[in-house]
Amino acid sequence: MIVLGIETSCDETSVALVEDNSVIENLVYSQIPTHRKFGGVVPEIAAREHLKKLPILFSELVDRTNIRMEELDGIAVTKGPGLIGALLVGVSFAKGLALRYRKKLVGVNHIIGHVYANYLAYPELKPPYIVLMVSGGHTLIFNVLNSEDMKIIGRSVDDAAGEAFDKISRLLGLGYPGGPEIDYYARKGNPNAFPFTRPKIYDPDFDFSFSGLKTAVLYEIHRLKKVGYTEETLPINDLAASAQEAILDVLLHKVTKAAKENNVKSIVFAGGVAANSRLRQKIDELSKHFNFYLPPLEYCSDNAAMIARAGIERLRKGNDDGLSIEPSPNFFEMMMERT
Ligand code: KG4
Ligand code: ZN
Repeated sequence: MIVLGIETSCDETSVALVEDNSVIENLVYSQIPTHRKFGGVVPEIAAREHLKKLPILFSELVDRTNIRMEELDGIAVTKGPGLIGALLVGVSFAKGLALRYRKKLVGVNHIIGHVYANYLAYPELKPPYIVLMVSGGHTLIFNVLNSEDMKIIGRSVDDAAGEAFDKISRLLGLGYPGGPEIDYYARKGNPNAFPFTRPKIYDPDFDFSFSGLKTAVLYEIHRLKKVGYTEETLPINDLAASAQEAILDVLLHKVTKAAKENNVKSIVFAGGVAANSRLRQKIDELSKHFNFYLPPLEYCSDNAAMIARAGIERLRKGNDDGLSIEPSPNFFEMMMERT
């Protein structure tokens, strides 16, 4: 099956062609430089940028792959969750193509798309497995028994893990997005320099809480300044490494506990935080006990290849949402739909 994927849920415009488990082409235009000066994504600007860039990226995809639209088995577009204006651009564009070329059209849940990024690297991956989905907007643990049965068994009660990276980065005066910045500075720091608490680590549930950690880092910065450190002399590397370690310890503790309690050996990672280099190191140390699956770096952050791959799954089951498809920005509504 050859499917065109379209992703515009947040600040990456992306189009891709995927044939079964193989990516023919995946083009991503990141708006990060545009939003950087605001310290975060500005929804209205994001939507306008998608509107400008999506037709250009689509033409480039056609030029590079020489695909004829007759060869396509369908179109998959991110339906939600995400920013409503941004989603609307992708969904409208996809509807236009589906109408013009009489193609099947399926809406894809962005979060399920992140999970399916793994199938691009590991076509042999089969449930049961536990998923740790860690992005800028969501931190979730799923128990996947089969492709029809994906149960959420844990989630963040406040900030998402990626959001914690972003906010702590801002406190440390580092750039946006915070994950790659903290990842970079932490490599030169001592992860045990500041013993930040590991929120909820010993709670019996699989839920997370990261907003307290951000406050703990803020108080530590205040304390250091009181004892004579200045903005210039703050031990940024150690603070970054210690905060990162606290986040990763909780994530790994909870996801391995979920795997053990559900008698599952395979743990699948998804979302932008899965790109973290220290996470990849720590997983190595645990790999005697579990089979870990991590998407390749290029498919950790938002991309249309993962959306096309998840769309293939829906198309294979005979779905066709047609022109009735509407963006669904809300996370809960999207998870109820199970698309
Ligand atoms: O999945 P994603 O690209 O977009 C969403 O759907 O949210 O995730 C973006 C998040 C941001 O919070 C970013 O700081 C984080 O992923 N991130 C990282 C790293 N690269 C991106 N977090 C930790 N370490 C990284 N290397
Ligand atoms: Zn995402």
